This record gives sequence, C-alpha cells and structure tokens, in this order.
Amino acid sequence: MIVTTKELFKVAYGQFAIGAYNINNMEQCIGLFQGNLDSQAPFIIQISKGARSYARVKMLEGLINSAQEVFPEAIFAVHLDHGDEQACYDCIDSGFYSSVMIDASHFPFDENVAITQRVVERAHAKGISVEAELGMLGGVEEDIKVDEKHAMLTDPDEAATFVERAGCDSLAVAIGTSHGAYKFKGRQGLHLERLAEIQQRLPGFPLVMHGSSSVPREEVERINAAGGAMDPSARGVDENEFAKAVPLGVTKVNIDTDGRLVWMRVHREYFRDEPEKIDFRPPGKIFMAEYAKFIAHKNTQLGSAGRLAEVREALG
Ligand code: 13P
Repeated sequence: MIVTTKELFKVAYGQFAIGAYNINNMEQCIGLFQGNLDSQAPFIIQISKGARSYARVKMLEGLINSAQEVFPEAIFAVHLDHGDEQACYDCIDSGFYSSVMIDASHFPFDENVAITQRVVERAHAKGISVEAELGMLGGVEEDIKVDEKHAMLTDPDEAATFVERAGCDSLAVAIGTSHGAYKFKGRQGLHLERLAEIQQRLPGFPLVMHGSSSVPREEVERINAAGGAMDPSARGVDENEFAKAVPLGVTKVNIDTDGRLVWMRVHREYFRDEPEKIDFRPPGKIFMAEYAKFIAHKNTQLGSAGRLAEVREALG
C-alpha cells in the first residue's frame, strides 16, 4: 500500500525513524521489499533523478507496482529524492509518487522559500507530501575549519521561518552529515546539539537526516580484499546515534551508499571466488538476500522494525 510520508511521520514522530532507501533496479527493489517485510517495517522508497534516467521512469513505476503485488503486506511511500522544480512537477503530475523532495537549498533563502512554496501548492492540491531542505550538507573535509563547518549547518531560527513561509511537510536539515562514503574524519559525528535547537524552534515537526549511511568498516575491508580501492579511512554515521536523533524529531533517515557497498562487496567477492563463471544471476540472488538482511538490520537500528501492525492500525 502506497501512503504519504506525512501519514508515516504522524505515527513515527518521537518514537522511531523510517528508513528511506534509494533503488535503481529490480534486485534492489526485491531485496528492499523482502527486508522490510522480514523486519515488519514501514519504509520509504527513494527515487533520485539519476535513478529515473538510469532505469527509465516507467520501468521503475512498473517494478514498484509489481512489487506491491508480490508483497501485498508492504506499507511504504514513494518519494522523489533531491528533485528540482521540474522533476517535482513531473512526479506530482505522474500520479505515482506520494511524496517529493524539492531541493532548492543551494539558492538564497528567499528563493528557496519561493520555489518550495510553488511545489507545495501543486503537491498539496493532489494530496502529495513535500520535503524541503535548508542548510548545506557536506563540509566535512579535513581542511575545512570548524567555524566554516558550523556555517553550513541549518540555522534553527531560519528553519522555523522557512517552514512557516514555505509550508512544507518535513525538512531536511544539515547537522554534519554528507552524501557518500567519506563523511567524517577523526572523532567527528552528528551535531545533535544543533538538532535539539532546531527541534525547540519546530516542536513536533518531522525532520529528515540525509547522508546517513554508516559505511561499515567490515564492508570496506571486504571490498578492498576483493580488489576494491576504497580509502580505508571512509567513515559514516555511527548507527548508535539514530536512537539519539529520533527523540529530537528525526523521522526519516536517508540511506543509499551503504546499499551500494553491499552490492559491490557481493559482486566483487563472487567474481573473485568464481572467476570462470559468467552467469549474473547467482550473485544477483546473493545480493537480494544480503540486501534484505541489511535493510532488516537498519530498521532495527532506526526503531522501525516491528512497527508495521501499528502503522496499519493508525492508517485505519
Ligand atoms: P548516503 O550517501 O549517506 O547513503 O546518503 C543518501 C542520501 O542522503 C540520499 O538523499
């Protein structure tokens, strides 16, 4: 059953976070549904602009529609990840998406508000939820000074004004994470104190954490042992921090890179160990099972595992 992110956040706020996982192909789609049902969790399917052009818009819709038939128990939102204004309108008009993200965070504040307002108006007219972004992800390179790092975090006062003016349903905030495998150096982690300040200005309002892969060391080591060349210092979000972010208003946690690492590890190890094999289905099968296991594990960390019945009841 496809629901809006707003409906999911109503149940989740303050209790647990919902995993938002990016998909690009059939293997990820099957593993995603399987892992969420194995762990009895509601979830969010994220589709990026890149995924829409890689897999073709209609192919992705077909995959998700078929997955609904294969896994009828599943409760999830279909969400456009990092859309520009046109991509948001395309998804709103398609009638398939239940949620869109308008990412105008790179524009000046007033322009970000104006663009988000326009998207909100069109989305809400069709009952679709809107996530917006304020602040800049990233800024975690070693050569960037602490002050500069803080300058990129979401400003709590601005966040309150932004939400009031833009009318979005959730807000992606910059609290120290970045996209990709190389997020943190040394002992740096999430800026939970900043998150707490944002929540104080926006009590009860759903916040979103992008760049939340944990980049497990074991994955990186296995990838490199099988011929990969990742920087061994790659580091992500400590999974123990999710439980601290949830009471501070985080209801959606975006995870993409970690799933790519599972794909890379499975395929590198398979073809290293079976160099004479040419059939892509055996590693594909292993990947789907491993991806399902990975999703179930993440849901346990996010607190969304075991919540499916509660969400179903709340939805009526
Ligand atoms: P990661 O690169 O940490 O997986 O973040 C993904 C993301 O935030 C997608 O919007």
